Amino acid sequence: HKKITKVCCLGAGYVGSPTSAVIAHKSGDLQVTIADISTERISRWINATNEKELPIYEPGLFDVLECRGRNLHFTADIDKAIEEADLIFVSVNTPTKKKGMGAGFAADLGYVESATRRIAKVATSDKIVVEKSTVPCRTAQSMRKILEANGKPGVHFDILSNPEFLAEGTAIKDLLSPDRVLIGSLDNDRGKSAAASLAEIYANWVPRERIITTNVWSSELSKLVANALLAQRISSINAVSAICEATGADVDEVAYACGLDTRIGPKFLKASVGFGGSCFQKDILNLVYLSESLHLPEVAAYWKQVVDMNEYQKSRFTKRVIQSLFNTLTGKKIALFGFAFKKDTGDTRESAAIALAKNFVQEQCQVSIYDPKVEEQQIWLDLSEPGVDSSLTEAKKYVTIAKDAFEAAKDADAIVIATEWDAFKDTELDYEKIYEQMNKPAFIFDGRLILDSKKLEKMGFKVEVIGKTRSELSFE
Ligand code: NAI
Repeated sequence: HKKITKVCCLGAGYVGSPTSAVIAHKSGDLQVTIADISTERISRWINATNEKELPIYEPGLFDVLECRGRNLHFTADIDKAIEEADLIFVSVNTPTKKKGMGAGFAADLGYVESATRRIAKVATSDKIVVEKSTVPCRTAQSMRKILEANGKPGVHFDILSNPEFLAEGTAIKDLLSPDRVLIGSLDNDRGKSAAASLAEIYANWVPRERIITTNVWSSELSKLVANALLAQRISSINAVSAICEATGADVDEVAYACGLDTRIGPKFLKASVGFGGSCFQKDILNLVYLSESLHLPEVAAYWKQVVDMNEYQKSRFTKRVIQSLFNTLTGKKIALFGFAFKKDTGDTRESAAIALAKNFVQEQCQVSIYDPKVEEQQIWLDLSEPGVDSSLTEAKKYVTIAKDAFEAAKDADAIVIATEWDAFKDTELDYEKIYEQMNKPAFIFDGRLILDSKKLEKMGFKVEVIGKTRSELSFE
């Protein structure tokens, strides 16, 4: 197989940049270039002199960017990056379609297609094109057709599927020590040789037995299924949390007892206000759409329930807040702790906090939001409708963004924990001081199971925890 010396990655986002940075960091003899259509994003990657100035927050990311300028380069000159590379990762966004056929379910493959067309147009030498974005099963086939129909005569393209399994918040750790690297290729000599070339790059730091090869379709489908299975565990435990709240069982105890069974395992069994992030919902809906297109309505309905349960969990939690606060939020103030979809990231895509904030605003409640990493501008973007100016004005009537937890909770009737940031734990934050400045009775709703409720109750808080008995029931 061919030894790769130059790699390029299209898409400098949450996946493209950390992945390419780790590849460059671990492969000194490889030149890695990351290209993006957003010149603003690229210049932030180039010019950041510290962690805070990077376009995304990810622990450890700044350290692996040490190779910037040496064998890691960022550019907006996409054509040059394509032309020079032997191997091209396509790591562009694949959001859920908003309009047209499959709207609300199918993936919008417009960005993948335009990146693919660009490669076909520009390439004057053979390329290995690697599908890194999460795509529906058989997308590689479409990419191959586009490349073959539009490529220059004599230029050959090999296509691989290499889905990314990193999780935001632990991306660098996951990339440095992945559970597995999955490479899907065509089952012929050229395909296998291309897969071997890519495997050789990963083998710079990943043990060989963790680099697995399959056919292209298995590889594409595995990524959708992995996310569906992970999200399914969360929805399962969240469904159980509703039973716990109504009976007096404790969801943490149930999860612990069940997780000790080695066939089940302890991970991903934490009840919460619901999962978020750019991938889980999108990828399940993708799987649902795929199942429907394959005329498998029972399969589609089965996976759809995972998303439905997640929506239910968010509205159930909102209801509990309203009921506890004497059935009205009008004119009250809620401090929303956390806006990112999980801790250790600044990403808010599909964050449960967005739904909660919107629900509270609907109840004409003042909401003060504090998140240690999410940028203010992003919060306003998430709370308004794109293109509708009045929606931002409306949001600003009810929402304020606080500079710290104390400011958010001042004069509030309740605190709602939406993100499990370590900084919100009772071992980190001075809840006694917070309590003094709140309206009484002061409520705290732990939507992430991070607080010691007994300790907070002693301070005077009324504590309501997801998956644990409602205090109104415990009075009986
Ligand atoms: P993102 O939105 O952060 O980044 C995508 C980037 O691609 C953007 O900066 C955009 O400007 C750029 N782009 C779009 N079209 C382009 C083109 N033709 N040429 C060059 N650049 C172009 O998206 P993110 O989160 O990095 O996701 C990328 C893919 O990876 C998606 O398919 C996603 O499902 C998948 N994925 C995401 C994970 C995550 O944790 N965010 C984890 C695993 C997979």
